[in-house]
Amino acid sequence: MNAFTTAWRSPSNIAIIKYWGKHGDQLPDNPSLSFTLSAACTETKVTAIRTSSPEITFTFHNTPKEDFAAKIRTYISRIAGEVPFVREHSLHIESINTFPHSSGIASSASSMSALALCLAQLQQITSGNPEAMPDFRLASLLARMGSGSACRSVFGPVCAWGQTPLIPGTSDLFGIPVTDVHSVFTDMHDSILIIDDGVKSVSSSAGHALMSGHPFGASRVQQANRHFEILLHALRTGDVTLFGQIAEAEALMLHALMMTSDPPYLLFHANTITGLNHVRAFRAETGVPVYFTLDAGPNVHLLYRASDAPEVQKWIEKTLTPLCKNGLVIHDRVGSGPILIR
Ligand code: PMV
Repeated sequence: MNAFTTAWRSPSNIAIIKYWGKHGDQLPDNPSLSFTLSAACTETKVTAIRTSSPEITFTFHNTPKEDFAAKIRTYISRIAGEVPFVREHSLHIESINTFPHSSGIASSASSMSALALCLAQLQQITSGNPEAMPDFRLASLLARMGSGSACRSVFGPVCAWGQTPLIPGTSDLFGIPVTDVHSVFTDMHDSILIIDDGVKSVSSSAGHALMSGHPFGASRVQQANRHFEILLHALRTGDVTLFGQIAEAEALMLHALMMTSDPPYLLFHANTITGLNHVRAFRAETGVPVYFTLDAGPNVHLLYRASDAPEVQKWIEKTLTPLCKNGLVIHDRVGSGPILIR
């Protein structure tokens, strides 16, 4: 029996410039940029067995998940042209997350990037290159086809996705690492306040769809490009204040776009707003540069320098933990990207 196994641990990422709106085959309307995280990860092991009648199985924390297996079958048939070995191998996929099950953290970026890395690696192995690392651009492209933002998890610590003249080599098809980033950012902390752990009231695919025909769609694309340029300058010069202004503006814009779409969505909880106000008050009182960003949901990401971690985490514990569901705060930080675990 010809069986090949590989396993990857891949992290989640947090966008500073948000990807919101897509067209064609999961292509972004604007370039986005994210920090790759390190604690919130998916570990995925894939065993490929050569056969003339391929099948796909999937387990999550050792439990078969047929609904997700069905989604993976559809996904694999869409990407078979990029990784042709899947046409002659059965795939047995086993996955676990390193973060709490119902933490409200979107796991699509970590899970799709981990799976994509396994598939890109198995393409090498089954072509007779067992020692070679996968083609990371192919892995990023495959991840994008599963969930757009997942393509940015393939590279750390900072990744850009979407064609922009500001960074040579960028593409709508895959993410690329952003180099020349000041160490204050590659060392940054991201503490995630879990305000609510429930299922999102609008899926991100439905959210992206709301951007076609959105009244502010064209100006949003212009703004994202402008923000991208300013952010890049901040990242290169180590300007944390400028970075924070862009991060917060992008987060609030993402929600403003949802609030002004048809139908409109309001994804803040009361405690989200309370948390954001606390962040601004803490900054004003202490001068410590802590900034927030948000995903398409109620949870709050707090970004701050490693050197401020003791003071900031003490404040989080005292002031912000009571706002969180079951007091849950996940302390994460920027990381260097996925790891081959087998
Ligand atoms: O990758 P998707 O389709 O789940 O979209 C993610 C969108 C945001 O998380 C809101 C922003 C981003 O760029 O990650």
